[in-house]
Amino acid sequence: MKSVVIEQPGELVLAERPLPQPAAGEVRVKVQFASICGSDVHIWHGHNPFAKYPRVIGHEFFGLIDAVGADVAASRIGERVAVDPVVSCGHCYPCSIGRPNVCKELQVIGVHRDGGFSEYAVAPAKNAFRLPDSIPDKLASMVEPFTIAANITAFLKPQPNDVALIYGAGPMGLTAIQVLKGVYGVEQVLVVDRLPERLALAQENGADQVFNNSEIPLAAQLEGVQPTLIIDAACHPTILAEAAALASPAARIGLLGFSGETCSITQQSLTSKELSLFTSRLNSNRFPQVIEWIEQGQIQPEKLVTHYFPLAEVEQAMTLFEKDPRTCCKVILQMG
Ligand code: NAI
Ligand code: MN
Ligand code: ZN
Repeated sequence: MKSVVIEQPGELVLAERPLPQPAAGEVRVKVQFASICGSDVHIWHGHNPFAKYPRVIGHEFFGLIDAVGADVAASRIGERVAVDPVVSCGHCYPCSIGRPNVCKELQVIGVHRDGGFSEYAVAPAKNAFRLPDSIPDKLASMVEPFTIAANITAFLKPQPNDVALIYGAGPMGLTAIQVLKGVYGVEQVLVVDRLPERLALAQENGADQVFNNSEIPLAAQLEGVQPTLIIDAACHPTILAEAAALASPAARIGLLGFSGETCSITQQSLTSKELSLFTSRLNSNRFPQVIEWIEQGQIQPEKLVTHYFPLAEVEQAMTLFEKDPRTCCKVILQMG
């Protein structure tokens, strides 16, 4: 089978690899579509601290179950599935309280173990979620990115009367907009980015007001509006201090970033307004919820997708995705 392998940082190859056999409790998926994420590019360039090489990348993928290991019902063969990349031990403290995404032995498919930019991939059977026919193959790999928004909003508990502010109108910011509007009915969703093209996408995805902070700081444009719910989906280390300064008293702030740089903030700026901070990593069992949201038309994954490429053109696809955020949002690889 053909697989996209990062042999070592900087070296991406489309390699011929042996067909994997599903172990006990696993399924094998004949991958049909897989979407590119910033973290795939980071692994390619050696900027992901968790990745081990060589690695088949890809953690957003969809396909058909074509083989099952011991202890998995053969009736699952042929199922259309989206695969949750979070593989957890099931018994550590975070697993015991329903947070497998921060399992002490967390293994992310496509990061710690081989992933879905491949003609076939194996995964635990319980990670393979059956999709209703109403979700088309071409969009099915988009379940995973929406689970990030599902996870952070589960912490933030959005209310219709919130004034929400989202930093960044990349895939993470756009999925958050859709979930705030379509699922939680938040009346005011404000979005800030530095690229006008991204802000136009934010509007198409439901933002009520957009701000470009490339020249004029956001604070000068908000005219005293104090957001009550803020999501940092741009993830620059300076954003938290700005968000705390702009926030309404009693606001909640959600962080998604993984930067290793120091971010400087005073206790006073948080405590004087009694701000709540939440962080969110990947997703904890959010696939069923997102599948239902898509099925019910509450979110529209097609609004993020800008390009499709065949597997053979993976390097061009990843380069375009990385270098051209003005024309690219989600880029999807077609395997077959
Ligand atoms: P992206 O790079 O496509 O989008 C980021 C957007 O933020 C861009 O449009 C950029 O122009 C904008 N931006 C950058 N600095 C800004 C600033 N100071 N003010 C306003 N806008 C600014 O990335 P994507 O895929 O949307 O991911 C965003 C972040 O989320 C990344 O840092 C990524 O590491 C993180 N992430 C976290 C996950 C988690 O589970 N916690 C999962 C996936 C991504
Ligand atoms: Mn992703
Ligand atoms: Zn665990």
